[in-house]
Amino acid sequence: MSNYHIKHLEEYYQVYRKSVRHPENFWEEIAEEHFVWRKKWNSVLEWDFSKPEVKWFNGAQLNITENCIDRHLHIRGHKTAILFEPNNPGEEARHITYKELHEQVCKMANVLSEKGIKKGDRVIIYLPMIPELAISLLACARIGAVHSVVFAGFSSTALSTRVNDCGAKMVITSDGSFRGAKTIDLKGIVDEALKECPEVKTVLVAKRIHSDISMKAGRDEWLAPLMDAAYGDYPPEIMEAEDPLFVLYTSGSTGKPKGMLHTTGGYMVYTAYTFKNVFQYREDDVYWCTADIGWITGHSYIVYGPLANGATTVMFEGVPSYPDFGRFWEIVDKHKVTQFYTAPTAIRALAKENLDFVTTYDLSSLKVLGTVGEPINEEAWHWYNDHVGEKKCPIVDTWWQTETGGILISPIPFSTPTKPTYATLPLPGVQPALMDENGQEITGNQVDGRLCIKFPWPSMARTIWGDHKRYKDTYFTAFKNMYFTGDGALRDEVGYYRITGRVDDVIIVSGHNLGTAPIEDAINEHPAVAESAVVGFPHDIKGNALYGYVMLKETGESRDRDNLKKEINQMITEHIGPIAKLNKIQFVNGLPKTRSGKIMRRILRKIASKDTSNLGDTSTLLNPEVVSEIIKEVL
Ligand code: WTA
Repeated sequence: MSNYHIKHLEEYYQVYRKSVRHPENFWEEIAEEHFVWRKKWNSVLEWDFSKPEVKWFNGAQLNITENCIDRHLHIRGHKTAILFEPNNPGEEARHITYKELHEQVCKMANVLSEKGIKKGDRVIIYLPMIPELAISLLACARIGAVHSVVFAGFSSTALSTRVNDCGAKMVITSDGSFRGAKTIDLKGIVDEALKECPEVKTVLVAKRIHSDISMKAGRDEWLAPLMDAAYGDYPPEIMEAEDPLFVLYTSGSTGKPKGMLHTTGGYMVYTAYTFKNVFQYREDDVYWCTADIGWITGHSYIVYGPLANGATTVMFEGVPSYPDFGRFWEIVDKHKVTQFYTAPTAIRALAKENLDFVTTYDLSSLKVLGTVGEPINEEAWHWYNDHVGEKKCPIVDTWWQTETGGILISPIPFSTPTKPTYATLPLPGVQPALMDENGQEITGNQVDGRLCIKFPWPSMARTIWGDHKRYKDTYFTAFKNMYFTGDGALRDEVGYYRITGRVDDVIIVSGHNLGTAPIEDAINEHPAVAESAVVGFPHDIKGNALYGYVMLKETGESRDRDNLKKEINQMITEHIGPIAKLNKIQFVNGLPKTRSGKIMRRILRKIASKDTSNLGDTSTLLNPEVVSEIIKEVL
């Protein structure tokens, strides 16, 4: 029996049982059969969650790009690896074959190396969804440099914080980006950010929008002429399985972003395996994930997972609403997409529009639909199922995280019967547990609790860059010998999991993780603000939106409130990015606090969602009177 491609439910259960009973044998067989290693491992797994320390395939050597590109050349050299669909539908799509991808990646590897980038150095990539983005990741991996992609919608402050946190020497960016009808001046943002980053010696600039930008002599260079002049081959750097592959930042409950570190061997094995199974990928498929490569979904399921399987992966530069709300479906029709993977927020936004935008196109090529990033509500699930999948495409509601590197809980299409709003069953090798508040595991079905994972899986993050203590405190301290996800979940009568949402101070807005602390820090920088608290409240399209309670300083009291609101959102845009702007701002005379001075967010969350009926006991608060004041103003 091949463990690699599961085809029916019984087989899933068999494979799952084996993966739990003999995890090492299970992953070893997969690793041996399906990948190219330069040297075999000494051990499949070494782990200790109390440190925490996890090593997969320790001692093995490989290069992930050899697995994602070189080994396909003799059988699939002329197959499209990356199918680039530009923002403007009038611009022709580009088919980049495996052979061309190999050449481009090697050229860029030579460019990086000529610029002094060596194995282990960090390179920040701040690019829109253009082929250079995928090529940059792979070029870093080719030479053993650690890439750190920063989503090109983040502000200059967010960018400089990340550059400095990982100690990057180089930034790869573009003159700008197209987003629907707009253009964005990315290079300007980079210039602003780099005022704070003295260690960055080189900025490589891809040309995309042909805008007139300034180039700093001695630091900035156009990428294209360097690529033209570079040699088209570069021997893959031999990496240890546990060598770092990339750092990707994610928001936490406290101020600083967390640079999640992923390593090479386990990440490759797990993303490739899950890609194949969760999307039931077959050789001639055209797979499309609409995420941005700036997020983990793009790393694992646009770049590494698909390419490790020799797939054709679509890379879309634009937005779902441009030139109109039919764009996704036009692309599916045009390229005969077989697997389509998107976020619930996109589905909700499109479901609000006229159905003609969908029915105009022929979607019969689709076989599997996916969602990721936040809980999908029942209405959106049915709309997706009825109108996009025409009831014949299983929907994989995939639950995972930046920290997990790959999908952990998801149906396997045509095997696991789907159930709206349920991520259903753990993938092979994944051992979830629900925990109660006292740290005890809750067994049996029809229960809910805090979602933990009991046993390592190959693509888990190994640490937070430069802060192992924070890694331990955040994920391995709340529950002994468990990885704590930060999510709540329930398990139904047949053992299916449904993720109910975050149980910490992270709010998911349109599928993006936002920590409340950095937003509050940005608001508090405003000279008129004394203190603030940010909570989430339900929103039709975004899933959650942000509600800010702001207390002004005495000197700010006389200011015009509408102007203040604008300025506060401007502060947030500058510090984090427009995705973190507040939907609602309420000025308050005080924030409800416990006697130890902690803001009672639970109460503020309820008020923000207009649920003031059962606020619990507020009498123990330091200042119970502010609660009624706040409510009075809302109603
Ligand atoms: C949430 C994205 C419900 C969850 C891959 C998790 C989901 C956080 C789902 C991670 C899902 C992701 N159903 N919730 N199918 N997928 N989440 O790091 O709260 O951007 O902890 O990784 O998104 O977000 P991240």
